[in-house]
Amino acid sequence: MATIIGSVTTSHVAAIGRAIEKGLQDEPYWKPFFAGFGPVREWLARARPDVVVVIYNDHGLNFFLDKLPTFAIGAAPRYTSADEGWNIPTVLPFAGDPDLSWHIINSVVGEDFDITTCQEMVVDHAVCNPMALLWPGGQPWPVSIVPVEVNTVQFPLPSAARCYQLGAAVGRAIASYPADKRVLVMGTGGLSHQLDGERAGFINKEFDHEFMASLIADPTWVTKYSTVELVEKTGSQGIELMLWLAARAALTAGGPGAVREVTSTYHVPISNTAAGLMLLEPVP
Ligand code: DHB
Ligand code: FE
Repeated sequence: MATIIGSVTTSHVAAIGRAIEKGLQDEPYWKPFFAGFGPVREWLARARPDVVVVIYNDHGLNFFLDKLPTFAIGAAPRYTSADEGWNIPTVLPFAGDPDLSWHIINSVVGEDFDITTCQEMVVDHAVCNPMALLWPGGQPWPVSIVPVEVNTVQFPLPSAARCYQLGAAVGRAIASYPADKRVLVMGTGGLSHQLDGERAGFINKEFDHEFMASLIADPTWVTKYSTVELVEKTGSQGIELMLWLAARAALTAGGPGAVREVTSTYHVPISNTAAGLMLLEPVP
């Protein structure tokens, strides 16, 4: 049976791609951010995942505002990266795992989620930057991926409660997969940030800290807020924290299982964003 070995949740700020390309990891501006990934990579070397289920939001690359599913899951043999407009370098293609993808799709559709299935899919910085932080320079990628995409860019958005339920269903699907695979769940986006409009630059440290703490002991805490309330509290892009929530729900398949924090960091700001990082593993 497949095993969910842990969850990594991280911000996915576009400028990370450029910083990696230019080798700025040890510059004073970037160091506090990049340094957080050292313990994650040490853990990965021991935990040896075979596949990463990446829960993220597309930013206008694979989907645009004219046709925008609420939930989409990749079922492609291969995912190429492309730049949706930030002028960041592309990365080597990711191998897919179509068999696991279809297992997850069948399972979550069987639980009454309406999913868009993507047998071709391009992935943007929300997949590529976190993957490059976990496996820097070490391409070709040592893992395959299954992308799970959630609309956080154009209202109406799915509620935090619905994102939690989706993550839980994805977790149950992984746990019921008959092949012997070690699965890492990743959630990318957030934490608080707003890129444009009157509140551009908005960050809410207090809320971010409360949210991160809730993921350990009280993971449904944030589901009491509506999407409009979450935009008020975290910024119009801060709502990407729902991808962290979905990954956390997947980790214990929506059940009451305990988790422990392996490492976490929180650094403000990277570009316009409160950059958070958290690695959780299930307690047997
Ligand atoms: C930034 C934040 C994001 O969530 C993103 O997708 C791209 C850029 C930023 O802070 O610059
Ligand atoms: Fe984003």
